Amino acid sequence: MKFVRFIMKNAALASVPKHIEHFSKFSPSPLSMKQFLDFGSSNACEKTSFVFLRQELPVRLSNIMKEINLLPDQLLTTPSVQMVQSWYIHSLMEILEFLERRPDDHRVLEEFVEALVKIRNRHNDVVPTMAQGVIEYKEAFGQDPVTNQNIQYFLDRFYMSRISIRMLINQHTLLFEGTANPLHPNTIGGIDPHCEVAEVVKDAYESARLLCDQYYLGSPGLSLQELNSESNDRNRPISMVYVPSHLYHMLFELFKNAMRATIESHKEGASLPPIHVMVALGGEDLSIKVSDRGGGVPFRKMESLFSYMYSTAPTPLIGQQQTAPLAGFGYGLPISRLYAQYFQGDLQLYSMEGHGTDAVIHLKALSTDSVERLPVYNKTAWRNYKVSQVADDWCLPSREPLDLAVFRLAK
Ligand SMILES: Nc1ncnc2c1ncn2[C@@H]1O[C@H](COP(=O)(O)OP(=O)(O)OP(=O)(O)O)[C@@H](O)[C@H]1O
Ligand SMILES: [Mg+2]
Repeated sequence: MKFVRFIMKNAALASVPKHIEHFSKFSPSPLSMKQFLDFGSSNACEKTSFVFLRQELPVRLSNIMKEINLLPDQLLTTPSVQMVQSWYIHSLMEILEFLERRPDDHRVLEEFVEALVKIRNRHNDVVPTMAQGVIEYKEAFGQDPVTNQNIQYFLDRFYMSRISIRMLINQHTLLFEGTANPLHPNTIGGIDPHCEVAEVVKDAYESARLLCDQYYLGSPGLSLQELNSESNDRNRPISMVYVPSHLYHMLFELFKNAMRATIESHKEGASLPPIHVMVALGGEDLSIKVSDRGGGVPFRKMESLFSYMYSTAPTPLIGQQQTAPLAGFGYGLPISRLYAQYFQGDLQLYSMEGHGTDAVIHLKALSTDSVERLPVYNKTAWRNYKVSQVADDWCLPSREPLDLAVFRLAK
């Protein structure tokens, strides 16, 4: 019996490339916030959601699996990336088992929810595991601009795909697991149709402050201002249709960074300038600015702050940290930017070295504008992995002092 199961498992494994090939030919279907809400409204139909997901999840998984295969060999073959790849294969196969099953069988729908929960748990550690793979690669082969660019391009798309897959899984499981969320009775799955932005700002600030107090024995205060230009009463609290956990994630990361910079740029015992937060609502944008006076970042370094290969903090060891560190893999900013971009927003940093930093989250004010932003595997994507080192078409300033005698001779 064991042998038969072994043969069957191997046969299934052998068919994986064929399935990936098939499903990667479809483009993922981006959902709007409204569609997410409709799936979860009172006439929510578990069957419809099941039929959609058993096709859409393999499409999203296969699209990104094609790109994993295009990573540089030395990265692809690290144990960490191999492990991540095997999780993806496993999860794809588990969903494919539902393709032939009947949507009107109650048991099938229940098993599907169970399978999704299992898949979500399996993929919990994808980010630190992938980060470990990048560190292993960096240690063994160093860094070069082409590989850096490749890895940056890949990880942005890979993590965005992961955010979107988790969003789909969370919505389905939260809506159809049968247990209402007692803490947030008005949310629809993970979406709050009346998410009060200032409340999330305060929550995220408090969590970051706790961490900061623990680590540095002090923390800067918070000054929060709202400007609601869409209401006759400009002081009316600003709310939006959004995923509170995404907003919280971004703000928590920005607060940790702002606190660390503020404390490290001030002498011990000196009074700390507070972090100013401004929430502004216009007709199109809802923007949140987090301003600190933590000494800022030199302009030259701004771009590298969003790089997965860069952090000024020492790298934490997986599984060995006692308390959550205030700075870790250097993924705080790039992942937060992905959360902002996921519903067509963005995250930008403006810094003045010597003074401080403004981090601004721009989101769509209208739920009709909030549509998923998803990577798709196609020729253009493929070409991005094939870029090779080309000579710069701008002169590089010489690092050596100019030898005028040689210069004159050469002329
Ligand atoms: N507000 C800020 N002021 C000064 N420097 C900042 C600020 N925000 C970010 N930085 C710089 O940008 C780097 C990258 O930030 P990021 O949040 O992505 O990673 P990290 O804080 O190093 O680690 P973690 O993954 O835990 O967030 C930081 O290490 C820090 O040097
Ligand atoms: Mg950080």
